[in-house]
Amino acid sequence: MNANHPLIFIVEDSLTLAALYSEYLSDEGYQLKHYALGLPVLADLETWLPQVIILDLELPDISGMEILKFINERHLPCTVLVVTAHGSVDIAVDAMRQGAFDFLTKPFDNKRLCTTVRNAVKHQQLCYLVDSYKENYDRCEFGGFVGNSLPMQAVYRMLESAASSRATVFITGESGTGKEVCAETLHRLSPRKDHPLVVLNCAAIPRDLIESEIFGHIKGSFTGAVSDREGAASRANGGTLFLDEICEMELELQSKLLRFIQTGCFQRVGSNRQERVDIRFVCATNRDPFAEVQAGRFREDLFYRLHVIPVTLPPLRERNDDVLMIAKRFLLEFTKEEGKAFSGFSREVENLFLAYGWPGNVRQLQNVIRNIVVLNNGEMVMPSMLPAPLNQLVPTQSMTRPATEATAALPDLPIKPMWQVEKEAIEKAISQCDGNIPLAATMLELSPSTIYRKRVAWTDA
Ligand SMILES: Nc1ncnc2c1ncn2[C@@H]1O[C@H](COP(=O)(O)OP(=O)(O)OP(=O)(O)O)[C@@H](O)[C@H]1O
Ligand SMILES: [Mg+2]
Repeated sequence: MNANHPLIFIVEDSLTLAALYSEYLSDEGYQLKHYALGLPVLADLETWLPQVIILDLELPDISGMEILKFINERHLPCTVLVVTAHGSVDIAVDAMRQGAFDFLTKPFDNKRLCTTVRNAVKHQQLCYLVDSYKENYDRCEFGGFVGNSLPMQAVYRMLESAASSRATVFITGESGTGKEVCAETLHRLSPRKDHPLVVLNCAAIPRDLIESEIFGHIKGSFTGAVSDREGAASRANGGTLFLDEICEMELELQSKLLRFIQTGCFQRVGSNRQERVDIRFVCATNRDPFAEVQAGRFREDLFYRLHVIPVTLPPLRERNDDVLMIAKRFLLEFTKEEGKAFSGFSREVENLFLAYGWPGNVRQLQNVIRNIVVLNNGEMVMPSMLPAPLNQLVPTQSMTRPATEATAALPDLPIKPMWQVEKEAIEKAISQCDGNIPLAATMLELSPSTIYRKRVAWTDA
């Protein structure tokens, strides 16, 4: 889109009028293109995208309304000004309903035309800004991630700007929050994407083998080293090395890693030949790295060397509706894989998903959905299909309200039970926030999932 010289189509069968409009608009810095018929406009809209169309509704071949409809149906990002004959207000109103931005009634003067077109150009530029804002700040998916909650939007922006750089990314987050997805996404979006991404899980490899896994070894360097072997560092040359569960690495190896990161050089176990590689490091842990440093289990100098771009993945319970979006994605995926017929969740199940705390995060959600799809049949996922511990969450009467026998003998005073006071306060806040639960939660200094949890309890009570 050319913001300096906006393209404008003038669709007008009268050559005299078209020439007049062109003259009026000649000093405004637009590129003007004239059409005397409607069909060529439809044809050109396949390849051209004007910011504004000045559209006479009465054309010799087709009605201008058809052009308007065409633009509307395809959601083409252009603003339409319709030109109507004197006295045809109904038609103008109709055109506005069909998506026209404004109308001009013949005859109109120079000033009226220029102002209306200027407004239309401005409107189109604002629409463009809003669209690009939505694209960047309201994404439902990014790399391997599904979700559009605010904390995830922040993660997406961070990954997007970090991807092109060689700077080390340090990912933290509870188990199952997507740390590996994060590393893969970074690699895929980076200029290194055609080189390998090598994943090394420091917790999964026996301690005495990690050094050889990272740097490789030469034959005979230790018992079991029957031949020369390349390590992750050599294999990741030109690409990315993902050191997962970095806090599990022994202190001694941490100093070797630090030297490697500082110099780009390393030696295979048993060799004194230096090898040099070009690597982007990404590391992750589900521990608190600061606490590990303080406890003396993680070298401070290595930590600061690695902790260049920190990315923190929020737990699933802090991602609001993302849980439903991700659940739906898994449901469709597993339904297809297992040849079942599921297409959605019942309202109660959705409420339970929102209320549950998901200690195992996305991985736990993935396992729950897999379990449901494999063990059940049907179209809708119902509460009875939920595996433990979600099936224990189905609210019961006794859980949410005190038994009536216990209250029967109490004096008749105007005192409400606490759950009711709380319910009223929360419902009032939600309605004051126009139903925006995350906002109400912020104002109440509660987490949104607490509200969801409580609401499930109230509705099912
Ligand atoms: N936002 C998301 N949308 C869709 N799938 C996701 C999302 N986050 C994670 N996953 C999926 O959830 C599973 C767990 O993710 P991943 O292995 O990246 O988590 P992790 O943080 O590395 O876990 P751990 O700490 O246990 O190693 C994977 O199958 C991954 O594809
Ligand atoms: Mg992981």
